[in-house]
Amino acid sequence: LFAPVELAPRDPILGLTEQFNADTRTQKVNLGVGVYGDENGRLPLLQAVQQAEARLLATPRPRGYQPIDGAPAYNKAAQALLLGSDHAAITEGRAVTVQTLGGTGALKIGADFLRQWLPQADVVISNPSWENHRAIFERAGFNVGTYPYYDADSHGLDFEGMVKHLESLPAGTIVVLHACCHNPTGVDPTPEQWQRIAAVVQSRGLLPFIDMAYQGFGDGLQEDAATVRLFAGLGINVVISSSFSKSFSLYGERVGALTLLTTSADESARVLSQLKRTIRTNYSNPPTHGSAIVSTVLNTPELAQLWEQELAQMRNRIRDMRGQLVSKLAALGVQQDFSFILSQRGMFSYSGLSPEQVARLCNEFGIYAVGTGRICVSALNPNNLDYVAQSVAQVYKT
Ligand code: LMR
Repeated sequence: LFAPVELAPRDPILGLTEQFNADTRTQKVNLGVGVYGDENGRLPLLQAVQQAEARLLATPRPRGYQPIDGAPAYNKAAQALLLGSDHAAITEGRAVTVQTLGGTGALKIGADFLRQWLPQADVVISNPSWENHRAIFERAGFNVGTYPYYDADSHGLDFEGMVKHLESLPAGTIVVLHACCHNPTGVDPTPEQWQRIAAVVQSRGLLPFIDMAYQGFGDGLQEDAATVRLFAGLGINVVISSSFSKSFSLYGERVGALTLLTTSADESARVLSQLKRTIRTNYSNPPTHGSAIVSTVLNTPELAQLWEQELAQMRNRIRDMRGQLVSKLAALGVQQDFSFILSQRGMFSYSGLSPEQVARLCNEFGIYAVGTGRICVSALNPNNLDYVAQSVAQVYKT
């Protein structure tokens, strides 16, 4: 019966990690997946997380089923982190948050929900976008188009192209936006550009679906929430997927949230009831441990403060690596101007490497990057930076 099953290609991002792990060369660097490594290249176990776990262990609790929509204290804290705890959407009962299996789980629950209730809508994602965006929305049954985003010549944003395209979309179109630290390019609109984008979304009656996987990796927790809060201030429907995988270094715990902004408390109740059905028929209810950690940190002021400091350290280390990579490439005599890497935000840089150059980096040097040229800057550290810079220089020069 399974004879017709075709072999699927490797996942463009997680498949690289599989390849990397199977690579027996001793000198190898994984710049593929978006994971933060510390200055020793290790995945950090944050102090705030360890302290929260110690507190949880001190009062062990049985592991019953969670509510379908997740732990209330977690949902409340996740919502407050996005909007600010006194936001009108919260106080007026216009924000619905459910716990999800990471940011991907939030996108999936959001996509399934929208497909059921807005079956006529199409989805547009940025060109380019995170590889899984298209796949998730197509799997949910949507037609997925793109809007102009990245301008390869300037290594910046094609803002006019983006706005013009958004202005041409039919009302009800679902527009997937990256709140900050755009994946894969690292190029974000300025606050003024966001104002204009939000105005177009509102006047055209589009539905913004804002993906926020990197809160705290751009300019700070509050600064990075500005986009979400801008849209939330419009009083329109907004969908937000958020994730604690990166900001808490809790990748494997799958802790995320889906937040829908509605126009009334009554609409919220109806939306929540349907989200619960969507969750129940996907995985019944979410797991306990990761959300207990995040909830303990966010609801304990001294742990929340410690976490914010640790997050700032991660953010600053990535910035430092950006600067060092750019100066090392220049010192190695590479003619291309890589200064754009400095203004990109978050874990990634759209490096401008061609697919052939990416293949050479992998084959000749054991350096893995996504085929589009996306490199994960947060995987650079003092031990591998010289090797990466020299290898990139060689690929550019020969
Ligand atoms: C990435 O883009 O590398 C991360 O978001 C990890 C993933 O799931 O693809």
